[in-house]
Amino acid sequence: MDARRAGGVSILRAHPSFDAPFIPNPEIPAMTAPTTQDILVHTEAGVTTITFNRVDKKNSITTTMYAAMADALVAAEADAAVRVVVFQGDVAIFSAGNDIGDFLQQPPATQDSPVFRFLHGIAAFPKPVIASVCGPAVGIGTTMLFHCDLVYAGDNAAFSMPFVNLGLCPEAASSLLVPQMMGYHRAAEALLLGEPFMAEAALEVGLVNRVVPPTECNGIAQAQAKKLAAKPLSALIETKRLMKKGQIQPVLERMAEEGASFGRMLREPAAREAFSAFMEKRKPDFSKV
Ligand code: COA
Repeated sequence: MDARRAGGVSILRAHPSFDAPFIPNPEIPAMTAPTTQDILVHTEAGVTTITFNRVDKKNSITTTMYAAMADALVAAEADAAVRVVVFQGDVAIFSAGNDIGDFLQQPPATQDSPVFRFLHGIAAFPKPVIASVCGPAVGIGTTMLFHCDLVYAGDNAAFSMPFVNLGLCPEAASSLLVPQMMGYHRAAEALLLGEPFMAEAALEVGLVNRVVPPTECNGIAQAQAKKLAAKPLSALIETKRLMKKGQIQPVLERMAEEGASFGRMLREPAAREAFSAFMEKRKPDFSKV
């Protein structure tokens, strides 16, 4: 995606934190992951915007991209000038979830792996997080939204959590948060059948705040971010902390439990068949697994 479509004059930085020259902050742990142009990080007027920029692969997320997003969150948290984080994708695709090939080659091995660093970072992020979602939001493209404070969706947004169809189980604490938000039966439909649901249905269950024309979505998210950035940071942080009080620990525990099952299931025949079928562009055959 062209940087202009990311909703501003995007600046790619040598390090995913802020203005050149980069002066290391001794309080931020050193990050060794390489940066990537597949994630754009742009900070302006108190708002850090993180853009999925891998449209040719439907913004599927590689290990390197998880690392870049995790680093951007660490930096945004540490920078007192940043008050809000916005995640956005392209007008036609938010994210196809994990990059399946990359995931098979380097499955997350420990809780320090980039995907878990990203998930822990977004789940415990103390400042407001906004998402602008247009087009498909698959897997973690949907489950990450349960950790955002405000979600704006284009009327073309299609949310799906097809973990069962991939021989896997939920991640990102979605097995906890989806039933909490949607009620058990709607959660079962979303997580057991794994069928997509559209923006209006997401609005009805409370996953999104507003459904808007796709071409306006990133702009509306930025306008809301600007409003938040004009408010006192301490009040934003304290209000979010109080609203989330008691939730972070169960969320992190559920993420760890899901992660252990997910890692085991990745190596089992059902997931292998599902991923092979995706790579070979055919329907999976689960009759023997
Ligand atoms: N991982 C790796 N590559 C992916 C991908 C993923 N999750 N999703 C899409 N791609 C790649 C395709 O392989 C294809 O690459 P190619 O051009 O080299 O063949 C390219 O992106 C375009 O994808 P395509 O499926 O042709 O686009 P589409 O518009 O018909 O469908 C989606 C878009 C998102 C509905 C579809 O790509 C999809 O279902 N992706 C898989 C989602 C998924 O299962 N994610 C895993 C969650 S754990």
